[in-house]
Formats: sequence, structure tokens, C-alpha cells
Amino acid sequence: MSSSVSAAASERVAATLLRSRHLLGIEDLSPEEIILILDTAEAMKEIGSRSIKKVPALRGKTVVNLFFEPSTRTRTSFEIAEKRLSADTLSIAIASSSVVKGETLADTVLNLEAMHPDMIVLRHASSGACHLLSRICRSAIINAGDGMHEHPTQALLDAFTIREHKSRLAGLKVAIVGDLLHSRVLRSNVQLLTKMGAEVWVCGPPTLIPTEITRFGVRATSDVNQAVADADVVMLLRIQLERMEGAFFPSLREYFNVFGMTDARLKHAKPDVLIMHPGPMNRGVEIASEVADGPFSVILEQVSNGVAVRMAVLYLLAGGVEHETAA
Ligand code: CP
Repeated sequence: MSSSVSAAASERVAATLLRSRHLLGIEDLSPEEIILILDTAEAMKEIGSRSIKKVPALRGKTVVNLFFEPSTRTRTSFEIAEKRLSADTLSIAIASSSVVKGETLADTVLNLEAMHPDMIVLRHASSGACHLLSRICRSAIINAGDGMHEHPTQALLDAFTIREHKSRLAGLKVAIVGDLLHSRVLRSNVQLLTKMGAEVWVCGPPTLIPTEITRFGVRATSDVNQAVADADVVMLLRIQLERMEGAFFPSLREYFNVFGMTDARLKHAKPDVLIMHPGPMNRGVEIASEVADGPFSVILEQVSNGVAVRMAVLYLLAGGVEHETAA
């Protein structure tokens, strides 16, 4: 192994590799693989604290970032992660690509593949877009959010942040409050947290609770005080007006009055509760500024940890220790 990752971490990482060459969803990851990614991310976070934040682990690899939907955090942190690992990286500007001339997703990606990238990071409005590409592409596909389906690296960075503060995931009460119906972050987090033994409560207006959600072993309620009671973690989700056709609740003001997270509501949670939000936040809708900027908020830590977690995913999908040894 090169000196890119600490020796202790390399021993842990050497124990196993990811079974799939793609990261399509938390659905496909075992608890052991989740722990492997989180442990690898710890080593990657150390690299981010160095004065020279660059290691040669992905030297010679080409990564294409293909974002068909807007993104601030995910796209930027993938780009930083790729650069810190020395990959050759490029981000396709969809608005100035041939997508605007009507080229399909499959044709766009097959044409990019003709230039032999090693990995494609994809965000797309269609649930299942990443699965489709994984069946026709030679490159590794990393899901950076597909429709209302999954956002696996978000759930991994959320788990990393919780584990940093609480030293565990099992046994924690995690309340997820907001627009559950349209949220890929919810679907990835519910699967990850239940796989790792957390007690997950989901809360929102009845019209925004997916009917199938309890099959994952979570408790669903529209009583925010019940969801937040004794919670170790409260995660707020944005109201996704752009994905809504019709009215799911009377007004945003009404939503805030009933479900918005305020200091008063947080008094029901554990005294050391963590406040999380994947972003972008709608202040005064799902979260009050006093909570978003308050002492329990780890929202910006989530963003920082996103770089380390995405470095870990890129590194492991590129072959991790085996790849570096063979190089
Ligand atoms: N959390 C998240 O996916 O944020 P962006 O849409 O800014 O990437």
C-alpha cells in the first residue's frame, strides 16, 4: 500500500472490498460494507487535515461527474474528493451539452464511455437511472441521487457524522421529519440506519408519508412531539415543492406551525441531540434558524464529512488496497 492512507486504516481496509463495482444504493450494501466505507472515510478525513491535501490513490483514473439536476454540496464534494485522490476529473455542463438537442441519457453516457472514463458519478431526476446505466456501462456508476429513489453517499456521510459524535449507530433513536414522500435521502437513510440497528422514527403530514415506509421497520407518525421525544438525532428534510403536483398541506406557514423544528420542540429530545439536515435548507419551513444555527446543529459538519465519505467510496470502488498494491 502507498503512504496515501494510514497503516492502521490500510489493515482494516485490506480485510475486504466492496462486492459491487457500482454504488447504486444502500439497498445493495451489507452492514460490513457500510462499516468498511465509514472506517475508510476516517482515514480519508485525516488526509483533508494535512497541509497538502492530495494523495496518489486514483492517479491515472478518469472520473466524469454528470449532474442532470442542480447540486451544490454533492457535486462540489465529489469534485474535491476526486482531486484529493489525484483522479483526472471533469464535470459535464448539461445546459451546454447535446442533452439540450434531445440526446437520451443512455446515448449521452455511451458517448462519454467511448472516451474510456473509469467512473461516472450521476445525478438524475429519474428513479432507477443509475441502475439502467450500470447494465449498459463498463465504467463504475456512482449514484449521486436518482429521482425519489436513493442518495447513498448522503446517507453514508450522515452515518459517519452520527458515529463521530455518538461512537455508534445501533440503539440510537433517530427522528426524520419532513417531506418523506419525495425524499431519496429518506430512503437511503432509513435503509442504512435500520441495517445498523438504529431505532428510526419518520414524521410528516399523512399526505407526505410513503405507504410502504414501515416495511423497513421504522415507526411512522404525524405527531412531531412523539417523533422527537428522547431522540438522539433529529434529521429535517426539505419540502420538495419542485416534485409536488397538487397541495399536500394547506400552506408553508401551516407546515412550519405543525412540523417546523424549533427550540421549544427540541426540548423533548435528548439533551445532547444532534440536529441534521442534508441541505438545501428552507429556513422557517422545516427548520427555524435558531435550530439550524444552534448549538446542537452539525449541518455544516455533514458537508465537511461528505468529502471524506466520497473519497472513501471512490477509493474502494477503484479497488482500494488491492488496486494500489497491483499498481
Ligand atoms: N444534500 C444534497 O444532495 O445537496 P445538493 O443538492 O446541494 O447536492
